[in-house]
Parts: sequence; structure tokens; C-alpha cells
Amino acid sequence: MSKSLKLFGAVAGLLIVTGVPSFAQDVDAGKKVFRKCASCHAVGDNAKNKVGPQLNDVFGRTAGSLDGFKYSKSMKAAGADGLVWNDETVGKYLEKPKAYIKGTKMSFAGLKKDKDVENVIAYLKSFSGEATEEAEKPDDAAANEEKKPQTKVAAAPVADAPMADHGTYHLGRPALPEEIAAWDIDIRPDGQGLPAGSGTVARGGELFDEQCAVCHGSFGEGEGRWPVLAGGQGTLTDDRPVKTIGSYWPYLSTVFDYVKRAMPFGNAQSLSDDDVYALTAYLLYLNDIVTDEDFELSSDNFTEVRLPNEANFIDDNRQDEPQYAAGLEPCMSNCMPEPAKVTMHARVLDVTPEGEEDEGGAGAID
Ligand code: HEC
Ligand code: HEC
Repeated sequence: MSKSLKLFGAVAGLLIVTGVPSFAQDVDAGKKVFRKCASCHAVGDNAKNKVGPQLNDVFGRTAGSLDGFKYSKSMKAAGADGLVWNDETVGKYLEKPKAYIKGTKMSFAGLKKDKDVENVIAYLKSFSGEATEEAEKPDDAAANEEKKPQTKVAAAPVADAPMADHGTYHLGRPALPEEIAAWDIDIRPDGQGLPAGSGTVARGGELFDEQCAVCHGSFGEGEGRWPVLAGGQGTLTDDRPVKTIGSYWPYLSTVFDYVKRAMPFGNAQSLSDDDVYALTAYLLYLNDIVTDEDFELSSDNFTEVRLPNEANFIDDNRQDEPQYAAGLEPCMSNCMPEPAKVTMHARVLDVTPEGEEDEGGAGAID
């Protein structure tokens, strides 16, 4: 390590004095290419992890090995299998990231031109200790003596105040496991996150009368303008559909999650898990999805219960759309094939309120 720092000093000095045109040019071109990477990667002084890991000293780094960055499983596995970043491996990765490492979370389509790959590698190498070592070899011994004083200058920034090594902004401290557990209460449609427990319709009815009916009505019909929790089946295509757990909601997990997280309104998260099971069972009962007061909902039978409207929700699978499937980069400027055409004016459509004086003057446009 200290050796490469010294050598870095040596080469830096050399570049300033003599210059190495062809190398410098690649680096410059590579710097431009790196703009494509810069939204996700930082490199250079004080580079921090962003969406992607910081890329100082990436040459010679084992893939997926930087402390404090959360890599994909695939990247970590590739590292564990011995993948080390060098010209060849970085080149292949940048050409087609997803093909080279299946499951990498680097959402980047890849660089099409070999020249861009080479140049960006040259640029990144200027921030990698190993690269300077290679560049050093030719003039080695002769340069060594006088370069030593510069070592200190080059090394100085490294001694900067210590920086918390976690997160994007390096602020605060990592959350404690207990803190994460307290936030991590979401429940998924497949039952993931469900706590152990159970409760019957009958028990839920008691709880509901005590703690919920004041707002939601004894039968979930809603008092005043408080939300309706039951009924509404068959109204989804009406002008004013009544969207309830029974008529609209796709998954029972949302009911459990919502009640556990947010209800009773004003006293959220005061219910035990068994209470939430019982209340969820009662809400199924109010919506005629179960009819037996003795029905007991539990972590064991939870995922067997399906809500009637589930089938009307469809997966939004972007990966099947041509744009995403082909891994094309999204269009960010001049995306309209031709200039937009004005087909109608708001005033003709009569959506813009008019001043008193031009009452009835709807046609007054050019
Ligand atoms: C949209 C964000 C994004 C862009 C753009 C991007 N990367 Fe990445 N990059 C990532 C992420 C995220 C990872 C971590 C991948 C993983 O864990 O699977 C990564 C990983 C890497 C790695 C492996 C680093 C390591 O520590 O193992 C290299 C090298 C790399 N990127 C280089 C580049 C270069 C060069 C470019 C531009 C040509 C680029 N990336 C563009 C997000 C991005
Ligand atoms: C003080 C009045 C009040 C009480 C008591 C109350 N809720 Fe609510 N509930 C609300 C309000 C207000 C909303 C809507 C909140 C929002 O949309 O942000 C709501 C929403 C809901 C919803 C989602 C409805 C939908 O379709 O979006 C469910 C389910 C629910 N409450 C269940 C319960 C249960 C179970 C209890 C008893 C443990 C309960 N609520 C007690 C006021 C109350």
C-alpha cells in the first residue's frame, strides 16, 4: 500500500514534468465517457459510494468487496468465486453488465464502442494504485530517488478527518437491529412478514364495536363521512364506485398491514397481533368473504384467503416492454419523433373560465 502511494507520487511528478501525450488523451476521452457513469459512481478525492460503489483503486479490487456498499448477491458471489477487476474483466462488464454478471444491480445498458471502454478504463486507472505501478516500470530506478519528497504531498489528503464509512452521505450512525425491526412491519401478499398469532370473527366483532365502530359504523358502513369498510360489491364501474376491502382491495395482507400500522385512528399500533388477526377476520365477515362467526384467522391459514377483486389487478411487468427488454437507454431529450401539434384550444373546449367582459366570446382565438 505505502509502496503504491510512493509510486503514485513518482508518476504524478513525472507526468507534470514530461507529459505522456497518448496516455493523457485516452484519460481525457475516458473522463468524458465517465459522465455516463457519474450519476452512480464517484472517483477521485473523497469519492463516496453513491448508487454504485466509489471506483478509486477499483483495479485489483475483488468484485463486490468494498466495505459499506450494498452489492447485489450476484456481484458478491462473483467476487467470492475469484473475480478481480482488471482490464479484461472491467472491459467485459462494461460491454454488457447484465450479461457478464447475471443479476447485477448496475442498471446500465453497457458501452457499445470498444474505444469508449478502453478510454474509460484508462481514466479509472488514473485513480488506481495498481495502474500507476504498471506505468512506473519503464523508468523505475532512475526516478525513485528524487520522488520521495513528493510522497508526503500525495499522501496528505488520505490523513483527512475520519469519515463514517456507511451510507451515501456518511451521516449519523447505522440503525440498530431493534430500530430496524420496529420499522420493518410490512406484510406482503405472500404472507412474508406476518407475525405469529390468531383471532376469531367473534373476538374481532367485540374489538370492532369497542374501538372501530364509532367511526366506521357497526357494520363497517361508515359513520358520517368516515371511511366505509364493507359493501360496495359490483359498484366499481359506477360513476361513484364504493371501494372497500370486499369490493376493491386485492390482498388481505394490506388489511392486516393497514390496521396494524394505522388503526385505530389516533391510537395507532396499540393493537396486539392477535387483535389484528381477529379484526381482520371480522372485516372478512362484514364483507361476506367468510360467513362463520367461529372462523379463526391465523398465520397458518392467512394466505389461503383471497379477496374477490384480486384478479382485476395485473402485474406491471416493465421487463416485458420492448424498451426495457432490449436494455435500451431511456430517451431523455428530444424524444418526440416530430414537433407537437396543437389540435384544440382550452378556450374552445370551454375549460378556461373567462372574464366577465368577454362572456360568450369562446371563439376568440387565433
Ligand atoms: C445507474 C447506475 C450506474 C451506472 C450508470 C453505472 N454503474 Fe457501475 N455500478 C452500479 C452499481 C449499483 C454497481 C454494483 C453492482 C452490483 O452490486 O451488482 C456497480 C458496479 C460497478 C463496478 C464494480 C465495482 C466493484 O466494487 O465491484 C464497476 C467497475 C463499475 N460499476 C463501473 C462502471 C462504469 C465505468 C460505468 C460507466 C461506463 C458505470 N459503472 C455505470 C451502478 C451504475
Ligand atoms: C377516530 C376514527 C377512527 C377509528 C376509531 C378507526 N378508524 Fe379506521 N380509518 C379512519 C380514517 C380517517 C381512515 C382513513 C385514513 C386515511 O385515508 O388516511 C381509516 C381507514 C381505515 C381502513 C382503510 C379503509 C380504506 O378503504 O381505505 C381500515 C381497514 C380501517 N380504518 C380499519 C379500522 C379498524 C379495524 C379500526 C379499529 C381497530 C379502526 N379503523 C378505527 C378512522 C378511524
